[in-house]
Parts: sequence; C-alpha cells; structure tokens
Amino acid sequence: MSKFFALIPAAGSGSRIGEGLPKQYLALAGKPMIYHAIHTLCGAPHISHVLVVLSPEDNNWSQYNWSEFSEKLLVLNCGGATRAESVLNGLQGIKQLLTINDNDWILVHDAARPCLTPEQLENLINELSNDAIGGLLAIPVADTLKRSDTSKRAKNTESRENLWQAQTPQMFRYRLLVSALSGADRTCLTDDASAVETLGFRPKLVLGNTNNFKVTYPQDLALAELILQKREIL
Ligand code: C5P
Repeated sequence: MSKFFALIPAAGSGSRIGEGLPKQYLALAGKPMIYHAIHTLCGAPHISHVLVVLSPEDNNWSQYNWSEFSEKLLVLNCGGATRAESVLNGLQGIKQLLTINDNDWILVHDAARPCLTPEQLENLINELSNDAIGGLLAIPVADTLKRSDTSKRAKNTESRENLWQAQTPQMFRYRLLVSALSGADRTCLTDDASAVETLGFRPKLVLGNTNNFKVTYPQDLALAELILQKREIL
C-alpha cells in the first residue's frame, strides 16, 4: 500500500504582499497563515506525515507553538532560492527522517493557500490514488485573458478554451517527482506539475474551488480571513 505525505514549501519571502514578515507568518484568523494549511493536511486521515520546508535563515517558526500537530508534523530547514528548489530539497531531506518508497504519494501544498478544505483534499486523493501519473487541483479560467505589450497595453486576447488555473495540492509519486524536479530548470518553474509535464506526462486536472486561492496581494488577506471566519461559524 502506498503511503501519503504532504510537503509544504514555506521558504519564500512573499515580497508581493509588501509586509516585513514572510507571507506564511502573516496573521490570519488569529494564527500565522501557514497554520491553516498545516491544520487541514494534518487532519486528513490518509496523510501520515506533513513536512514543512523552511528557509535555513527562518527565525519565525520557533516563535509559535506547534505541539498540537506533533504526531504528524516534521520540519526541514533546507529551503532553496526558488519554490522548486525548496520542494526538491525537502524531498531529498525526507529520507533522513522517514522511510519513503518510490511509489508513495507526495502532496505538495503552498503555505500561502490557507483556505483549502478537507473536502477538496479528500476529493483530490480519491480522484488520483489509482492514477498512473498523479495531478493537481485546478479551476477552468473564467476571465478573458489579455496579452500585453511592454507598456501594459492589450496586444491581443488569448483563447481561454482548455485553460486552467493550477492550484495546490499537487500530488505525484515520490520517485516521479524527484526525477522531474531534478531534471528541470528550477529557476523558472512555478509549480510541480510543470516539471512532470516536461517528462512527457499529463497530470490530471481535478476540479478545485476558487476559495483555494494563493494569498499574494494585500487585499487577498481580508478575503482569506472572511472565508476562514465563516467556516468557523458554520
Ligand atoms: O511566492 P509564491 O507565493 O509563489 O510561493 C509559493 C509557495 O512556495 C509559498 O508557500 C512559498 O513560501 C514557497 N517558496 C519556497 N521557497 C522559495 C520561494 C517560495 O518554499 N524560495
């Protein structure tokens, strides 16, 4: 039986949000942002461990109490210069902590997607656990897409047919993901699936929910806060 592990790359600085604190530690519904992803992933019965990949220079993590997750949560201080580097370093670092087999599943989830629900996570696992390749949560593009010139004027309109917005978790088998990331140009990858695609595989797109957006801009924080608060009240 293949096991399931979650890996949260959390070594980014979050420069687009414009705060001093790295994005994953910004306060959200009374907790640091990363808490919410950890809570959902640790709460999933399928997932045996949740690994958080921090920057070697991180001095925020230890300021919080994570003991409620002690059964599943492990931390690696091996984040890299890009997200893809952080994920690959984390995948290599797992071997020092746990026994992991080539066919075990890895669910990579951004620390900056705090609104993932247990239902979306369960649906992803159910849709992919018998899949040959793996895949990711994604949603069909809803807006009209413009390509700009260098002076921010619309040059043309792109067709949105068959276009999806990739979310996380992205779920692949350990060996495939390590091979894909090892061989890819990790300076320009923005997700894990694109590394797998470069090997010629076609990851499955599992319909997600717009609530699982990535907190990127300052206004995203207020929306995430509302979504999380509403969930607590219901
Ligand atoms: O910057 P962005 O929001 O695209 O980052 C997505 C995820 O990748 C975040 O959880 C961030 O902390 C992580 N990341 C990382 N190492 C980097 C850059 C980003 O772990 N060097």
